[in-house]
Amino acid sequence: MSGSRQRWLGGGIADLEIGTALGITSIALPLRQAKHLAVVQTESMEKIIIQTSRLEKKYLTDTVETTALTGVELRIAQGDFVAIMGPSGCGKSTLLNILGLLDRPTGGTLQFLGEDVTTAPERKRANLRRENLGFIFQSFNLIDELSVQENIELPLFYQGLPKTEIKRRVQETMQRMGIAHRHAHFPQQLSGGQQQRVAIARAVVGRPSLILADEPTGNLDSQHGREVMLLLSELNAEGATIVMVTHSPADAEYAHRLINLFDGQVVTERVTSPLALF
Ligand SMILES: Nc1ncnc2c1ncn2[C@@H]1O[C@H](COP(=O)(O)OP(=O)(O)OP(=O)(O)O)[C@@H](O)[C@H]1O
Ligand SMILES: [Mg+2]
Repeated sequence: MSGSRQRWLGGGIADLEIGTALGITSIALPLRQAKHLAVVQTESMEKIIIQTSRLEKKYLTDTVETTALTGVELRIAQGDFVAIMGPSGCGKSTLLNILGLLDRPTGGTLQFLGEDVTTAPERKRANLRRENLGFIFQSFNLIDELSVQENIELPLFYQGLPKTEIKRRVQETMQRMGIAHRHAHFPQQLSGGQQQRVAIARAVVGRPSLILADEPTGNLDSQHGREVMLLLSELNAEGATIVMVTHSPADAEYAHRLINLFDGQVVTERVTSPLALF
């Protein structure tokens, strides 16, 4: 373990919620075929990953109460690829944080893998996150004291993989994201787009079954943005479930289902692809 990571781990942040590990595997099937396969598999054994009922989130400060979410009913099945859109401040990040067990609702219920986790103890929620989730944060949430390579290694390190396997997967993922040449840099020495690609690499390197992505292309030029969307599509074709917040209609087209939020409520929900599950 490198000195900086040792320092960081020893710094008291014992339970880093940076998503689970997932490496990127190359797919042997053409994308369309692979998608078809994923859908057939899911239809035959549909499994609900997330279900919400009358979900509500109010933020209370000394002087103001803000209702960020109200009455959200949502069902995400295994293999789904959902885009969430809506104006700034309508509650998209709030919703994603609750779905990703990073925040708790103030009303309603949240089921994760068939179990009500609304009031589950933090330790249980942390385990569920570590085992199932890759989270791409709107604000990246990279660890400043760790290099690019160390940031990406972290989920695999927590999975206890052998060093050689960690090295291989991290190298592969950095190359895929076009950041291998910056492996020894620290986050503050990178551009916004590079930081975003490191954050994406960290979220997918451990091959999580559920990827929650908050504006994953928000800081990227069109070429890198397209690469990220193709990567998410490939991961989805390989079986990962994806819930992505985006302001980009072009990015939303990669999803199979589009959910529009307005003032904390789902206002429309529509299927955007014949591959959608429901
Ligand atoms: N920690 C907080 N304390 C108080 N209010 C908050 C907090 N976080 C979010 N809010 C409020 O909740 C509402 C929803 O915020 P949220 O970040 O979910 O919006 P968003 O749809 O993700 O917006 P954007 O597209 O700009 O990222 C906003 O009105 C915001 O001001
Ligand atoms: Mg947001």
